[in-house]
Amino acid sequence: MNSINLEGQVAVITGVSKGIGHHLCAQLLDKGAVVYGLGRNAPELNHEKFRFIICDVRDASDVQAAFDQVFQEQNGKVDILVNNAGLGYFGFCETLPLEQWDELFATNVNGVFYCTRAVLPGMKQRQYGQIVNISSIAGLEGYQQVSAYCATKFAVRGFSDALYKEVRDEGIRVTCVYPGSVKTDFFRNSPSIKPHDYMLDPVDVAHAILNFLQMPKNFHTVNLEIRPLQPKGPKAANN
Ligand SMILES: NC(=O)c1ccc[n+]([C@@H]2O[C@H](COP(=O)([O-])OP(=O)(O)OC[C@H]3O[C@@H](n4cnc5c(N)ncnc54)[C@H](OP(=O)(O)O)[C@@H]3O)[C@@H](O)[C@H]2O)c1
Repeated sequence: MNSINLEGQVAVITGVSKGIGHHLCAQLLDKGAVVYGLGRNAPELNHEKFRFIICDVRDASDVQAAFDQVFQEQNGKVDILVNNAGLGYFGFCETLPLEQWDELFATNVNGVFYCTRAVLPGMKQRQYGQIVNISSIAGLEGYQQVSAYCATKFAVRGFSDALYKEVRDEGIRVTCVYPGSVKTDFFRNSPSIKPHDYMLDPVDVAHAILNFLQMPKNFHTVNLEIRPLQPKGPKAANN
């Protein structure tokens, strides 16, 4: 199999302080990639090939400044972009604060758009690139009291589906990932859901992404739906 060798590839990941983004940084570094983490808070990660750039993905000029720095340091080259930064707010539609609706769209949707726009010209020029957008199972189906978050993740799905058709002939793979519940800090704003051991492990979700990033050049994972097999635990434990 002619796997893609990630050694020396330049990857940019948004939202790296914790969770899926943090683990994906570590796994890409293990494969020899040069990894730029963009975010509001730096991860605890010391590696000669890791650089952190402060960047709030809600802010278009912040995003542009971050990519300008990457391009300057890497001669305009970004091979991989992972749009991972995101958050959730939950509640009934009529009582969800407008600020939370705005923050969800600014982060989960606008941030994806800003970062993607920044890397496309260079990827097109080099006829190579991989863009990974993290949607959610909540981008495939709706849930009560999750309407705003679902709307953002459905938006990511639509954006990804259109973009892959727009850029596939330029040698650019766009993959949309739909994880079920992952045991991270994501649920901090949820009144009812607390992280537990039957959720997906963020290390495994990162590994699944790493796997398709290495697949041969003419192999395109368009959508990847990932769920815990037994979200409530083994049957015996439920009796
Ligand atoms: N956990 C789940 O069950 C689950 C399921 C499906 C999809 N997802 C998606 O997976 C992605 C990663 O989430 P996670 O589970 O790893 O949650 P997490 O542990 O809360 O990590 C989210 C990351 O996004 C960053 N972030 C948030 N707002 C940002 C902003 N404005 N600018 C830059 N970075 C920002 C956070 O950094 P700071 O807050 O430190 O700045 C953090 O590093 C998100 O898109 C989430 O919607 C999660």
